[in-house]
Amino acid sequence: MTSPPGPRGLPVFGQAFNLDKDHMHLTFMEWQKRYGDLFMFKIMGQDFLVVSHPDILRKLFDTCEHAKAFNDRARGFMSKYVIHNSKDILFRNMDEKQQYLKTKALDYFENQLVEEKWFYSAVAEEMRSLVSEMECLVDKEVDIVRIMDTMVIKIMGLLLTGNRITVSSREFESLSGFIKPANEMAKVKNHSTLTKLPMLRKIPGNLKNLYDTLEARKKDLRDCFLGTTEQGKRGLVFMLRSLRVTMEMEDGESWIDNDFIMGVVMDLIPAAIVPLQNTISVLFLVLVHNPEVQNKIREQVTLLKADVTIDDIRKLPYIEACILELKRFHTPLPVSARHCNRSGNAVFEKYSIPKNTEIFSNLFGIHHDERFFDDPWSFRPERFMAEDGSRVGPEHPVMKNMVVTGVGPRRCLGSTFSEKVIFLVVTILLKYFRICPNIQQELPPCDPKKFTSGVVTKAPDFNCVFQLA
Ligand code: HEM
Repeated sequence: MTSPPGPRGLPVFGQAFNLDKDHMHLTFMEWQKRYGDLFMFKIMGQDFLVVSHPDILRKLFDTCEHAKAFNDRARGFMSKYVIHNSKDILFRNMDEKQQYLKTKALDYFENQLVEEKWFYSAVAEEMRSLVSEMECLVDKEVDIVRIMDTMVIKIMGLLLTGNRITVSSREFESLSGFIKPANEMAKVKNHSTLTKLPMLRKIPGNLKNLYDTLEARKKDLRDCFLGTTEQGKRGLVFMLRSLRVTMEMEDGESWIDNDFIMGVVMDLIPAAIVPLQNTISVLFLVLVHNPEVQNKIREQVTLLKADVTIDDIRKLPYIEACILELKRFHTPLPVSARHCNRSGNAVFEKYSIPKNTEIFSNLFGIHHDERFFDDPWSFRPERFMAEDGSRVGPEHPVMKNMVVTGVGPRRCLGSTFSEKVIFLVVTILLKYFRICPNIQQELPPCDPKKFTSGVVTKAPDFNCVFQLA
């Protein structure tokens, strides 16, 4: 049985010098043209498989035949040394505990939070407070990316604690304190070096400093969210604690210990806060570049009462289409979170896939491939709209080709959650303001190939000006 095709590279080093590690998705787009939708390469003896077709992704990750083999996560420094040996959802292999927590968390995000209403009402309140603050900044230069980064941390603090938090609170400080070292640790060069040589965490130097900082920030998070502070009776931490108590009552003991709860809290920083912040940064760059999109959104928003709620989403198909197009155009996690076949060698189609192959889903490549989306480099929400003005249904080809939050049992658990949050951000701000370019500063291009690199890409730095609508 043969291996999938792919670039051969140098002995031992493989593709180490040919892969642009800060923009892997762009290199993968080039290689896809030469080697097809399923190709493989090596770096320092490690096998990597790259998938660039939505149907192959579904077959690999979401069918009885293959899903069990290809839905583990790659072993890495972060999961072993920071996340207590993968006691979490994001970094853990797809075992029973991971699936149990994931199912409970999905139910919490997709049903409980929507039914209980307190969460999205409080997010809308946060946004209305922001509107009041922005009224003092009308016609001035505004660093909207920083403002929205702050807003996202407040929203996640609200999600975790069940209460609105302020920028001077311990919760805000501990969440924001973890983001920078976690982003630094996620950089390919730091993370792969520490994964290969974990003892470097103890040898004086940059990597030890980074690890020590991350551990210190982790302790802050733990003290804050699991420590002595008064805990509310709602929010994600409360839900996880209640799960533990229920399990103890039913089985006499529970494997959901504080490390597991902390694992889920830590997951939310790279998996929820950073993608949401970075998506919103691109949202504003798109809005500044496309005043006609803003106008169309505003036409729909003006039909709403002052108190926008998430139930209004279904009434506003153009805004729904804009959010989908934003996610496609940007594709915040361009190569997704790596999967792995840790349980053994596997066979896929006519190919043999060696044990421990790490699998990249080339999401950015798929979303910018003309076979799947017409005119893929343009921001065109209309592609998600049917002729009668409604949003296209789940069976429409553009919806089937949207894989922005992954497919199968490892798919994102915050997909509809983030759509609802972005909906409240867009509708509440555009009801009152026009977002305009800052004429004092050259506006960076709205070109997804040029978004800043990283595991989660972001808009380049820019300022804008808010004018009254
Ligand atoms: C625009 C925002 C977001 C994007 C584009 C995004 C994208 C993704 C992607 C591509 C994956 C990997 C899927 C796979 O492995 O096949 C993922 C996993 C995950 N996401 Fe998101 N995500 C977003 C927001 C969120 C939010 C807001 C949350 C939580 C509130 C969240 C929680 C998670 C978790 C826990 C996982 C790991 C699931 C698992 O390993 O089983 N994400 N996300």
